[in-house]
Amino acid sequence: MSPTALEVSQQVPEVRPAAKLSTAEFRVGRPEIVGPEKPETPFPIILVGRVQRGFGRGGKDLGCPTANLPDESIIPMSSIANTGVYYGYAQVVTPSGDSTPMHPRDNGVLPMVMSLGWNPFYKNEKLTAEIHIMHEFDKDFYGFEMRAVVLGYIRPELDYTSREALIDDIEFDKQVALNCLERPEYRKYAQDPHFDLRCSVDTQI
Ligand SMILES: Cc1cc2nc3c(=O)[nH]c(=O)nc-3n(C[C@H](O)[C@H](O)[C@H](O)COP(=O)(O)O)c2cc1C
Repeated sequence: MSPTALEVSQQVPEVRPAAKLSTAEFRVGRPEIVGPEKPETPFPIILVGRVQRGFGRGGKDLGCPTANLPDESIIPMSSIANTGVYYGYAQVVTPSGDSTPMHPRDNGVLPMVMSLGWNPFYKNEKLTAEIHIMHEFDKDFYGFEMRAVVLGYIRPELDYTSREALIDDIEFDKQVALNCLERPEYRKYAQDPHFDLRCSVDTQI
């Protein structure tokens, strides 16, 4: 059986398989929708954790801000053998008693893409799970609770020779995720009881 992404993360960097380079052919041949008509094992995978600060390059360099989950929150991903890009739904929940709650429209269940890996383009030393929620938020939500349901896999994590090529692939990932989530058997998960559905009036897709 091939090792899971978390097992590989414990290997020293020298023996970890290098990520493949994204090529022009890869980009031209990418399908606009991926996976089966309904989520199959190991999906859905439920994640929850307090949002941590990453290096901040997602927003600054890539126009794609991401919320990092703490290490213990990604244990449910340990059945996954592949690092790469995943899609599903996520929700940011304002901690009770917070004096500056988020605008209710920012607390909805929203489509997301998640990168699980070492970000080979940036040569990170540590496995991370970073979620980009497809929504314009009014303010940062570090320290807030993030709930997510991961429903499928889009592609492997790749290395890049330019930031622009990484941005192009991320933009394409977002479109693939939205296409995938349009399918009725995936859409259902926006109503999953894992989410705080009192906020679901603002659910968007
Ligand atoms: C949808 C998506 C796909 C990504 N794909 C890759 C990838 O193939 N290779 C890579 O090195 N990083 C990839 N990343 C990770 C970005 O490099 C990462 O989000 C960025 O380094 C920001 O992290 P930071 O905010 O911790 O600095 C992806 C991120 C997202 C949201």
